[in-house]
Amino acid sequence: MNIRIWMCAGIFGLIASSSLVVKDVSAHGGATGIVKQRMDAMSEMARSMKTIGGMVRSKTPYDAEAVRKAAAYMELHGGTELTKLFPEGSLMKPSEAKPDIWQDWETFKAQADDLKNSAAVLKDMSGNGLASLGADGVLSVRQAFAAVGKTCSACHQKFRIKKD
Ligand code: HEC
Repeated sequence: MNIRIWMCAGIFGLIASSSLVVKDVSAHGGATGIVKQRMDAMSEMARSMKTIGGMVRSKTPYDAEAVRKAAAYMELHGGTELTKLFPEGSLMKPSEAKPDIWQDWETFKAQADDLKNSAAVLKDMSGNGLASLGADGVLSVRQAFAAVGKTCSACHQKFRIKKD
């Protein structure tokens, strides 16, 4: 009897975990190559924002090291690390990138730099605690986080096809 219960639990676990894997793949719609690479990096940044967002909204306890790590990931993947994942004309299915990227490369590049710089500010402030002010007395972690979020949406608004 016990064994049967364990087997059921095991099989259920397998089904549950494999459906998670399938869900993850279909989220990228079968993307491959450079498109998959940038979708993966973007998804990881979304996870980083979610982690910090939970703390900023006081849903999870503030964890300075987790904020530092998440911000460092976004800093590292902004700027040229981001733009190099968009070689000219890379619009292979199921990419949601707009061709405008290469018509207005300077803006795209500047927005990628904005992400890198704002994430660096957030990283530097992570040790100060949630509500404390930064060295310049102006930014709080909350504000620094919001500033990073603005760089994501500014670029998406201009250069990503909306899929609702
Ligand atoms: C410089 C422009 C730019 C910045 C900055 C940027 N993104 Fe993106 N993002 C894009 C583009 C373009 C796509 C569409 C890529 C594609 O489908 O080929 C995208 C796609 C995504 C996706 C969908 C990935 C998928 O699996 O389809 C997520 C999630 C995402 N971005 C999150 C973020 C987050 C979070 C930030 C900020 C921390 C951010 N992005 C900053 C341009 C940007």
